[in-house]
Amino acid sequence: MTRFEWTTRSCALLAATAAEFDRTQPFAGLSIGAGIHLEPKTATLLLALQRGGAQVIATGNLNTTQPETVDYLQAQGVTVIGHRTTDPVEHDGFLHAVLATRPRLLLDNGGDLFARYLQAPYDGLLGGTEETTSGRARLAPMRELLDRPVLVINDSPIKQFAENRHAVGQSVLESFLRITNRSTNGRRVTVFGYGACGRGVALNFGNAHAQVAVVETDPVLRLEALLDGFAVPDRDDAVAGADVIVAVTGAVHVIRVDDLSRLRDGVILLNAGHLPHEIDATGLAADPRVEAREAGPDGIETLRLQDGRRVHLLTGGHMVNLAGPRPMGNSIESMDLGFTLQARCLEAVAAGTVDARHCVVPVPPAIDAAVAEGFVALANI
Ligand SMILES: NC(=O)c1ccc[n+]([C@@H]2O[C@H](COP(=O)([O-])OP(=O)(O)OC[C@H]3O[C@@H](n4cnc5c(N)ncnc54)[C@H](O)[C@@H]3O)[C@@H](O)[C@H]2O)c1
Repeated sequence: MTRFEWTTRSCALLAATAAEFDRTQPFAGLSIGAGIHLEPKTATLLLALQRGGAQVIATGNLNTTQPETVDYLQAQGVTVIGHRTTDPVEHDGFLHAVLATRPRLLLDNGGDLFARYLQAPYDGLLGGTEETTSGRARLAPMRELLDRPVLVINDSPIKQFAENRHAVGQSVLESFLRITNRSTNGRRVTVFGYGACGRGVALNFGNAHAQVAVVETDPVLRLEALLDGFAVPDRDDAVAGADVIVAVTGAVHVIRVDDLSRLRDGVILLNAGHLPHEIDATGLAADPRVEAREAGPDGIETLRLQDGRRVHLLTGGHMVNLAGPRPMGNSIESMDLGFTLQARCLEAVAAGTVDARHCVVPVPPAIDAAVAEGFVALANI
């Protein structure tokens, strides 16, 4: 059995949805432009949409495209544009190439496609979906310009608890272990951000016997982290005291150049936020206090400072659970739920059952309810 077959067979709800789409053909005559991590689970989603009659044109997100997935999708008749790149300019070209095909629906992840659509709008775009927290934040100020249904999968309660809270925490811990082969026991781990993802990351490292501290700018969430049992030191102390720092906020330069004076010898930095800007990797590496950069195994980069300290950065500051060696991303079950929400939301936009008032809004509650009922019915747990 290939990884693709394993994944497809494990996505029970999406499989049932695709079987229904075989009959109902909700996307007959429509094209869907997708900009999303290209890995086995997203392949399952794109092929479910194709079974619903869609012509799918897809590109990846920055640095997360898996070549085997590109080959697999192309063999199944999906048009895939581009390849894995860390170059934002090249990636920008791939996104524009998707939009040049004038898709009728967009499946976006990070707001990349909708933001570029507004630079050069074309006739016939019905609307679409946005997957992430970062994408919602980017697209919300553009509501008036977009003026068509854009359903934000991230803001479904199902996505919040199934993926962001439960699955991201598991997969970030799994990625740390896989890439570093270091133990977490007794290690001081600082997690930046106590949103849905951060609380899962903190919980999973805590369950792996690390001493977890949380840095959170929202005072209410900081209190919640404290009551959940995590240390909540001042930011600079949390940086200075950490063996491992995980950024998962969506914000820019959470770890910045002036932290170089605080970081402990041997600290490991990783980002789990959507974009590679949470850790100022470029600024850190260019600082005159860094006398050498050493490339290590599996994308571990070490900055050697003049005073002898070493700072390790995983996956160049790109999303650690999707950009590292043999990346698995979040669990299949969490994505089965999230991607069935995607498929059902695109179906609703195609059918016209949501309108321009549903622009950058959460998944309609009726879709949440149907997806939850469907998953439980098939769960066999
Ligand atoms: N790695 C993955 O598989 C994966 C999956 C889903 C989402 N994400 C990404 O993870 C990021 C976080 O998502 P979320 O759903 O937890 O978002 P969220 O908005 O629920 O939480 C982010 C938290 O970070 C806090 N924050 C912002 N700036 C901060 C700073 N400088 N220091 C400390 N805290 C700060 C905010 O107050 C907020 O509570 C986003 O970029 C999202 O797109 C990643």
